[in-house]
Amino acid sequence: MKKILHISIALVALIGLVSCGGDTKPSFQYMPNMYEPVGYETYGEYEVFPNQQEAMLPVLGTVPRGYAPYEYPDTKKGSDAAKKELKNPLEVTQKNLDAGKELYTIYCAVCHGDKGDGNGILMQREKILGIPSYAAPGRLITQGGVYHVQMYGLNSMGSYASQTNELERWQITQHVMNLKATLEGTPLLVPELEEVAGANQSND
Ligand code: HEC
Repeated sequence: MKKILHISIALVALIGLVSCGGDTKPSFQYMPNMYEPVGYETYGEYEVFPNQQEAMLPVLGTVPRGYAPYEYPDTKKGSDAAKKELKNPLEVTQKNLDAGKELYTIYCAVCHGDKGDGNGILMQREKILGIPSYAAPGRLITQGGVYHVQMYGLNSMGSYASQTNELERWQITQHVMNLKATLEGTPLLVPELEEVAGANQSND
């Protein structure tokens, strides 16, 4: 009987010992390297890193995938140069024009209006004022300029560089040029003759 009591006390003491310990770490680890990571953990704190933080900024000069450099700075000089020199690298195709129209309706029409006359819904409700028509006299609107203003914005117009990619901005630009041409009654950008499938095949 006494023996059973001794064994029970020893058992309770042992369980007590084993179950002691912090909540964050297991009290006993069999082969700890199966629990502890060998490498550094994401967002961990380690002395080898500056500020002991594993999360660091990318190395200077790193560019994200798909990044295309844009050389014109966000200054009056940069804008003037873009208006003059920067050309739309896209071919005029129905696909580009259609995509441009769709994107314009999403991003620009709220202010500039479906026709580009500066009479979008936000203008009608007087949420934003001073939105120009694309045909406003004295405003030089060229393809390079339209692209530039999408990159950086202008006064109360924000930048669209994070919502659209390079291709999309040029597609929007084609549509804007056509809105301007329609307002001014000048010739539109029309799709270049696209090859009709099979037209060049001989019948021998
Ligand atoms: C929040 C309203 C708003 C939205 C949305 C907006 N714009 Fe504008 N935009 C303006 C205003 C206001 C100006 C006039 C800025 C100034 O001259 O101070 C302007 C000016 C322009 C100009 C003339 C720039 C110049 O060089 O004179 C172009 C081109 C233009 N926007 C194109 C776009 C395109 C393309 C989009 C869609 C990607 C767009 N805008 C979206 C408000 C807006």
